[in-house]
Amino acid sequence: MARAAVVAGLGAWAPPTVVTNEQLAGELDTTDEWIRSRTGISERRWVGPGQSTGDLAVEAGRRALASAGTAGVDAVVLATSSPDRPCPATAPEVAARLGLGPVAAFDVAAVCTGFVYALGTGAGLISLGAADSVLVIGADAFSTLLAPDDRSTRVIFGDGGGAVVLRAGSPTEAGALTGLALGSDGTLGDLIEVPAGGSRQRSTGLPAKTEDTWFTMRGQAVYAQAVRRMAQTVRDTARRAGWAPAEVDSFVLHQANTRILTAVARRLELPPERFLNAIALRGNTVAASIPLALADGAASGALRPGHKVLLAGFGGGLTWGSVALVWPRLHRPPASSSATATPRPSRAPAQRP
Ligand code: UT7
Repeated sequence: MARAAVVAGLGAWAPPTVVTNEQLAGELDTTDEWIRSRTGISERRWVGPGQSTGDLAVEAGRRALASAGTAGVDAVVLATSSPDRPCPATAPEVAARLGLGPVAAFDVAAVCTGFVYALGTGAGLISLGAADSVLVIGADAFSTLLAPDDRSTRVIFGDGGGAVVLRAGSPTEAGALTGLALGSDGTLGDLIEVPAGGSRQRSTGLPAKTEDTWFTMRGQAVYAQAVRRMAQTVRDTARRAGWAPAEVDSFVLHQANTRILTAVARRLELPPERFLNAIALRGNTVAASIPLALADGAASGALRPGHKVLLAGFGGGLTWGSVALVWPRLHRPPASSSATATPRPSRAPAQRP
């Protein structure tokens, strides 16, 4: 029988510094009402001075390893678009800090779809026999990329990390990943970008303009693409997994905006209550959003062993992707933050349409 990649551990971590809507309203031309009504966000966590994506990844990775009951893996795949440095990748240092020895370690950059791409990469290593276990992390400190005076991006993003341990197993056991679907449309790459800092700008020999060093997003165009692409990739993965979308107990989509979750549910003609929503206390945490939502859902009991769960991401590139699994019985991951209690996602009991 084919080797499958099976989720064996889960962990997440968000930095302790809470940034509320009220705080941002004191600094920018915005209001708590605008942020809540347009996004569903009430607060987010940001890294403190000197903290980095690698720090978030290490804490999330440590918790996932503890949840899996293991001290070692054969590879580390880190999804991030805010690496500690432009070069080298952040994953090797994360692996070293976790004491994992000379294992394979590399970054995957697919912005908010990064975690799904990284799951696919880790599963590929396992199915090839190149690894028996892989630590897959999604971590971003996106607050470091936001212009201090840009209300359109500053209110949206939060920082955090989330991780799973994949191990080799059977395709028929709970936790086995199935139905992976990935896609991209590079013709729309400038809808979400940091224009400067890469080879295109640096090869000009001119210093970057300050405004080009910050993250930009064309929100409305991205919104429309997010709804369309996530609904389609959910359908693709459900078909590949042999499930009807209506059979899925919990959809864990990229946590960009409550309105996007509702619109995807409407497009799929499914009850919005089945779409796990952990946005309020997290914000959009980019590559960390799906594993953080998984950790929040597991902690609150919204995700239960035996549930059919479908993960779907969408983000810069543009990129999108999804994967399905039957939720396994996991050791409870340690709390996802050192400062306050783990936020509870709002989710009503699943209802059939
Ligand atoms: O994570 C990767 C994928 N990202 C996404 O999926 C994000 C998708 N996009 C969105 O979620 C939404 O487009 C946003 C939340 C980013 C913005 O919401 P929106 O309803 O699309 O607002 P908008 O950009 O159309 O702006 C509406 C108005 C504008 O003012 P005018 O031109 O109507 O006078 C903006 O200037 O809201 C203004 N605005 C704000 N007002 C108060 C923009 N940001 C703010 C703000 N506070 N923070």
